[in-house]
Amino acid sequence: MPVVRGKDIEVLFSASTIARRNLELAKEIAGRDYHDLLVISVLKGSFIFAADLIRAMHDTGLSPEVEFIFISSYGAGTTSGQVRVLRDIDNDVAGRDVLLIDDILESGKTLRYTRDLMLSRGARSVSIAVLLDKSMRRQIELEADFVGFDCPDYFVVGYGMDVAHAFRELPFVGVVKGDA
Ligand code: IMP
Ligand code: MG
Repeated sequence: MPVVRGKDIEVLFSASTIARRNLELAKEIAGRDYHDLLVISVLKGSFIFAADLIRAMHDTGLSPEVEFIFISSYGAGTTSGQVRVLRDIDNDVAGRDVLLIDDILESGKTLRYTRDLMLSRGARSVSIAVLLDKSMRRQIELEADFVGFDCPDYFVVGYGMDVAHAFRELPFVGVVKGDA
């Protein structure tokens, strides 16, 4: 088991497993009839997944534009979850096919808020790609169009995802098990 910052981390999805899946996801995305594709990476958690997925998309012949939106979802896993935009995109989405990329789909509140925001701005379509789906945690009806892996009900870290600002740098997705 890898030890990072003095903690044992159990690997759930290895770097090579994720890389293989990203290529498959990119092919699924390339199979859709998107026109003016604008990828929006939902910060912070999606930054590594988005970086890898758009390069896999390049390998399938896609040339999306890339934007970033910083969404705060304080208590999003609870019924009182408040979602708001901390930093918005710079682009106009009107008439465009938007692909939102996020790390985890959990309650669904973050991505539904972001999807509805882009639709209200006149996006032609809004699709959703997530690395991990915690479907057992859903509180509102929302499904992603592209899912890397079904995620067991653990708090996961790595590959962009943090616990208290730590472990984003791990090249794999894992679970903190305790002191090494
Ligand atoms: P929700 O779908 O609105 O509940 O929000 C999901 C967001 O919560 C994700 O984008 C992550 O940023 C964060 N999140 C949920 N589960 C985890 C986890 O296990 N590890 C790290 N972040 C998580
Ligand atoms: Mg997030």
